[in-house]
Amino acid sequence: MALETLAARYGTPLYVYSTHTLLDHFTKLDSALAPLDHLVCFAVKANSNLGVLRTLAEAGSGFDIVSEGELRRVIAAGGDPTRCVFAGVGKSEREIEFAIRQGIYSFNVESEPEIERIDRVAKRLGCRAPVAVRVNPNVDAHTHAKITTGTYENKFGIAIEQIEAVYARASRRRNIQLRGLQMHIGSQLTEVAPFRQAVEKVAPLARRLHEKYGLEFLSIGGGIGIVYQSALASGDPRWWTASKEAKSILTPATYAATLKPLLQSVGLRILVEPGRFIVGNAGALVTRVEFVKRTGSKNFVIVDAAMNDLIRPAFYDAYHEIVPIRRKAGAMISSDVVGPICESGDYFAKNRPLPKVREGDLIALLSAGAYGAVMSSNYNSRALVAEALVHGDQAELVRERQELEEIWARERVPSWLGRQKAKKRPARGRA
Ligand code: LLP
Repeated sequence: MALETLAARYGTPLYVYSTHTLLDHFTKLDSALAPLDHLVCFAVKANSNLGVLRTLAEAGSGFDIVSEGELRRVIAAGGDPTRCVFAGVGKSEREIEFAIRQGIYSFNVESEPEIERIDRVAKRLGCRAPVAVRVNPNVDAHTHAKITTGTYENKFGIAIEQIEAVYARASRRRNIQLRGLQMHIGSQLTEVAPFRQAVEKVAPLARRLHEKYGLEFLSIGGGIGIVYQSALASGDPRWWTASKEAKSILTPATYAATLKPLLQSVGLRILVEPGRFIVGNAGALVTRVEFVKRTGSKNFVIVDAAMNDLIRPAFYDAYHEIVPIRRKAGAMISSDVVGPICESGDYFAKNRPLPKVREGDLIALLSAGAYGAVMSSNYNSRALVAEALVHGDQAELVRERQELEEIWARERVPSWLGRQKAKKRPARGRA
């Protein structure tokens, strides 16, 4: 499917996802982990579109969810709640009750007050709730500060030194079933070393807890990084072929080969919770050039997508590769690619060498499948964009573009301001 065709059919800005790439990434990781007894639980937060979830559910994926909303999405997409783990530091009573009723595989708990709350809700429902405690192994993942989670500087998990005491106390609770142990040290990890370090620290603990409490699983979290930047960034004139050749720095093969021997010795079912690795490079954000503006020494390419559609560059200084959809010959021009929002932070790239583009040209922001559409907002009263899923030579909208009126449909003018009066139009033709 040509992105140009999809842009013509569905308009821009448009997220486009590839079924083939989604399944390819899922299968690569799933088969690299074999013959370990394991379950891949896709991190729904990375991309929660029903079409994406259904595609993965049919491939046999479980899901890592963080809210009632995400669990309801999984169910709406035909996913199996008994293959879901529920993470997050602030689960509400209502969310816990809903998840128990749906029969989720495990709560990944982050604190003792949370265990107490789950115990209380399970007692009310007359059952035992399955629980895994998230251990914070205090390992530096060497990733962006806003997405590192495995050190004591973070709000996540319980310090490794305290874990055994926590299990001992939790084991005395009637309505708690200790089912597993969980960890997650951060996102967009591009080396295997921090994973190895963390698993080395946690494996002996998992074995001891398994012996004492009969755990079923160890989840090693998500975090496998992807390639965002390929040869295009270096100004390599072969960028359109070079980017296809780019290999993931951390392949599922390296990941699995390094961790499998350590995990095999634990003797538990292994869960992984990848988000970005599965869907990041399966998606692009297609946008159209509105204007090209030269001012001072700068060349600004103003596009119709903005930070509300893809916030990663503004929020994390993230790099997304940008390519014109029609291959352009000629010299590269150093350009800032920006959106229409009234903020200097509304940019996708700064001083990026790009082929010359013109008003109306289509460009694609690559690697936008993870933490793209899910992090979008209505800032500047811009409608949430459409999403399309490609399957071979077919494509369908998997999310319609939002209508502008939907943005304020649940807002009200308070009663003391009275009914909205029809504005009188100034009569025409009078001075
Ligand atoms: N498991 C847990 C407990 C997590 O907190 C996360 C991500 C994952 C799994 C999935 O991580 P992944 O495999 O996708 O790296 N918005 C940021 C990323 C935030 C990640 C939050 N937790 C970004 O755009 O880079």
